[in-house]
This record gives sequence, C-alpha cells and structure tokens, in this order.
Amino acid sequence: MDSPLIRPARQSELNDLALLEIQAGELFHSVGMSEVADHVPDRQALSRSQQQGLIWVAEEDGKIAGYIVARVLDGNAHIEQVSVAPTHARRGIGRRLIAQLETWGRSNDRPATTLTTFRDVPWNGPYYRTLGYRELAGAEIGRELAAAMQHEASLPGIDASRRCAMIKCNGRPPDLA
Ligand SMILES: CC(C)(COP(=O)(O)OP(=O)(O)OC[C@H]1O[C@@H](n2cnc3c(N)ncnc32)[C@H](O)[C@@H]1OP(=O)(O)O)[C@@H](O)C(=O)NCCC(=O)NCCS
Repeated sequence: MDSPLIRPARQSELNDLALLEIQAGELFHSVGMSEVADHVPDRQALSRSQQQGLIWVAEEDGKIAGYIVARVLDGNAHIEQVSVAPTHARRGIGRRLIAQLETWGRSNDRPATTLTTFRDVPWNGPYYRTLGYRELAGAEIGRELAAAMQHEASLPGIDASRRCAMIKCNGRPPDLA
C-alpha cells in the first residue's frame, strides 16, 4: 500500500467527501454522542471551500482516505473539519492532513493554526494535544473564533461546556539582525 498522496480536492469529489465525513463521524456513537454522529455535512459550504482551494484530500491506492478543510479566522489558519475514513484510521493520515494545513498557513504568513473541538473525546482534544496544540483561555479567543464557537453551540448535540478552542503557534524565523 502506497503512502497517501495529499492534494487539493476536486469538485467532482464533494459527494464522496460528504459521505466520508458521515462515516468518520460514526465514531461519536461509541461515546454516546449520537446527535454529533448524525450531523449532516453542509455541501454548499464544502463546495465553496473547494472552489477557494481550501480542501485537501489524502488519496491512497486511488481512493480518498481522508480530507481536511481550512479557513482563516482572526488572521490564523483554522481547521474547519478533518475526517479520516474508519477503514484508514490510526495510520497517521489525520496527522498528515493537519500538517498540510499548517504548512499552507505558514506559507501564507499565518501566525498560528487554530481549531475547535471536544475537550475530552480521545480523538479530539487529547489527539490535538499530541500534535502540539494547547487550549486557548477565554480571553485569548479572537472575535471570529468566538463567533464560530457560538454557531457550533447552536447545533444539535453540541454541549458548549465540553467544547474548547485550541492553537498551535508557528515558530518565528530566527532574528538575523
Ligand atoms: C480525528 C481523526 C481525523 C484522526 O484521524 P486518524 O488518521 O485516525 O489519526 P492519526 O492516525 O493521525 O492519529 C491517531 C491518533 O488519533 C487518536 N485516535 C484516533 N482514533 C481514535 C479512536 N477511535 N479512539 C481513541 N483515539 C483515537 C489517537 O490518539 C491515535 O493514536 P494511537 O492510534 O497511537 O492511539 C479521525 O479520528 C476522525 O475522522 N474522527 C471523526 C471526525 C472528527 O472527530 N474530526 C475532528 C473534529 S475536531
């Protein structure tokens, strides 16, 4: 099996991506979060992100194993969504997709990468901590990130008290002066 190829998503793949997100989300049934598991992807939002070049897929043996969606919030690169097919889970594909988004952020001079997630679900907060992310304190959360969290809190099954925002800062280049 080849290592995954990370590349921009194609418009023709959006239905497959929405299906993959549903399959990946089924993991939430295992922790009693059925409403989160049953969340229906927003296909129009996916389409907009694809047109802006903000979706990357991991392709392995000709099949899409996972994908990630970026946006910019408060001037930072932001992980809007990352999903890996259950058939390809726990083999580093999520980590590679996240690294791709971080690289995109650095190449666009974004000072950090942010995300919102469940603090205590093993493949959410604890997973991102292993990748170098830390939770933001309330006062550190920017206006656009706060608005995104507020919107998420209105969605079915989202208990705002279990949500957090996380950040990973991009290292500054050495001062050569
Ligand atoms: C989060 C997600 C993208 C990770 O993708 P992945 O390719 O499986 O992750 P990686 O291979 O890079 O890392 C694996 C690590 O993730 C965590 N993890 C992944 N699946 C897990 C599970 N079912 N139970 C516990 N931890 C899990 C563990 O830390 C694991 O390390 P380990 O296998 O050494 O224990 C994937 O689990 C997913 O699609 N989840 C559903 C959607 C979701 O929650 N997205 C994030 C929203 S903020």
